[in-house]
Amino acid sequence: MKHAGRQSLRRPWPVRLSEGPVGLRPLRTRDAGAWRQVRSRNLAWLQPWEATPPPGVDPRPRSFRAMTRSLRAQARVGLCLPFVVTYADSGSDPDATTARAERLVGQLTVSGITLGSARWAQIGYWIDQAYAGRGIMPTAVALACDHCFFVLGLHRIEINIRPENAASLRVVDKLGFRREGIRPRYLHIDGDWRDHVAYALHAEEVPEGVLTRWRRRRAMEERHRGTSAPQQGPSA
Ligand SMILES: CC(C)(COP(=O)(O)OP(=O)(O)OC[C@H]1O[C@@H](n2cnc3c(N)ncnc32)[C@H](O)[C@@H]1OP(=O)(O)O)[C@@H](O)C(=O)NCCC(=O)NCCS
Repeated sequence: MKHAGRQSLRRPWPVRLSEGPVGLRPLRTRDAGAWRQVRSRNLAWLQPWEATPPPGVDPRPRSFRAMTRSLRAQARVGLCLPFVVTYADSGSDPDATTARAERLVGQLTVSGITLGSARWAQIGYWIDQAYAGRGIMPTAVALACDHCFFVLGLHRIEINIRPENAASLRVVDKLGFRREGIRPRYLHIDGDWRDHVAYALHAEEVPEGVLTRWRRRRAMEERHRGTSAPQQGPSA
């Protein structure tokens, strides 16, 4: 059964995954320019949800190069999967007549990969505000989950979200993650220790794959929108 969209190779890493215009590919050092540009446009949008250094930890922000080097080194030993999220956007792209540009629109990181009898990991993500609300992140999370379950053989994926983060709560709701409960002062975010709500999915809860379930849900919603659209009556 094909679970994770189009996959170049069924190997854990490096890997490229895609579903329609949404892609996941490894973060690389030459993403520096695009990454910095997206991040600088989105400072206020991302700030309430960004990890910050706890008291006593070096407060200097790490450079893109340092972050990328560290994530890639962890990926090589199987501890994390540092993806960028891309979107094949023909909108305002001057090259749109020849090929659709795959823009870097966000980041998704599978981290804390633990094997042995645990076989779990967690996922974190953000997207450019200009691309919010198109279902890009639910699709990206579905692709990553299926890769973790069906290629890496993980058993459990967790996503921890601040209760105030309505948009992120919608992402886990759309994908059918189970709410497990509050984790008080779980992560240092936006300058303080913040409560989070833990959401999880186990592989055996989604035998058909998360992406298949998400596709089905989207199709149902589209059908519903089609049937509930206001009908035009005959003109008088
Ligand atoms: C959370 C996040 C990744 C969602 O990504 P996305 O691709 O926009 O996800 P969706 O398209 O499914 O939209 C999710 C919800 O965002 C809200 N939303 C929709 N359009 C929006 C827009 N233009 N701007 C802001 N929020 C919007 C809606 O509530 C939507 O739910 P709905 O589809 O039921 O209406 C994104 O909002 C984001 O990056 N936020 C800032 C960083 C962050 O919160 N990271 C996660 C930390 S746990």
